[in-house]
Amino acid sequence: MTSTIQTSKGLGFAPWYKYQNFWYPEHLLPVTLDMQATFKAQPSDIILATMVKSGTTWLKAIIFAVVNRHLYASTYKNHPLLNSSPHDCFPFIHSIYEKNNQNQLDSMPSPRLLAVHVPFSHLPASITESGCKVVYLCRNPKDVFVSLRHYLDKMKPVGSEMTPFYEAFDLFCQGVFPFGPFWDQMLEYWRESIKSPEKVLFLKYEDLKEDLAENIKKLAEFLGCSFSAEEVKRGVVEEIVQLCDFETMKNVKANKEGEHGASVRFKNSAFFRKGKIGDWKDHITPDMAERVDKIIEQKLLGSGLMF
Ligand code: A3P
Repeated sequence: MTSTIQTSKGLGFAPWYKYQNFWYPEHLLPVTLDMQATFKAQPSDIILATMVKSGTTWLKAIIFAVVNRHLYASTYKNHPLLNSSPHDCFPFIHSIYEKNNQNQLDSMPSPRLLAVHVPFSHLPASITESGCKVVYLCRNPKDVFVSLRHYLDKMKPVGSEMTPFYEAFDLFCQGVFPFGPFWDQMLEYWRESIKSPEKVLFLKYEDLKEDLAENIKKLAEFLGCSFSAEEVKRGVVEEIVQLCDFETMKNVKANKEGEHGASVRFKNSAFFRKGKIGDWKDHITPDMAERVDKIIEQKLLGSGLMF
């Protein structure tokens, strides 16, 4: 790590590094640079870009189920999502690079389903130039902060200490956030979705929670695999809603017991906590909420994006 790279305490137990205006956990910066230099996108790729803790695991499952609905019926016991983690069905590009397993990319069936957390400006040029579809997901930053703190606490290596809650919150308000400042990450994808709606679809966790069936139809249309009237009548959309329901996913054995990842191993169960809107109210005081809300309002001013 060069001395020109700014460092900060992270929101959990390890320091983070600022590269070209965005914060990275240490192990993900070198792989991101490698991925930027060498990843070759195919026009048929589907790239899921998300804010951490915004429902990535959930949307991986939804997209996998939508795109592969002709291969696996959602109600069959042998559906991959009932037997494996969405992170195995829909890997992060950086995990593939971390494992030095780039050959996997050549053997993936088309369309390849690949995920990232990096901001739009840090995507490999081949993604933005190939015309492949990018789906972006974010969530109310207050819920994201609370979710991230719980998650990092679970991930904390034995003997390490978490940045105290209020200090972490202060850093978060200053923009220290993985692959963020969160406002810059959201704005980059938001502006791109307005400029090129056929290439970038901008989704919010809260909208998925409010009406998943409608959003599944919108997603399928964007991905070029709309549901036929006959499928809708047969209840295929509803079956995917059930398959990707929080309780269904949380209780899949592979999600309760398995692990995924490369240099850092993630317990699959750590990706299912409450799955609710507004859990921040149990953790953040009204004064703290007002502070974040003012920041969000000011940063998103004039963009048309609101929380
Ligand atoms: P909470 O910690 O607020 O419960 P990610 O997958 O991006 O890491 O996001 C994790 C968050 O998504 C967690 O939020 C988790 O509980 C929630 N989540 C996981 N599966 C979900 C589902 N099927 N429906 C709704 N929320 C889900």
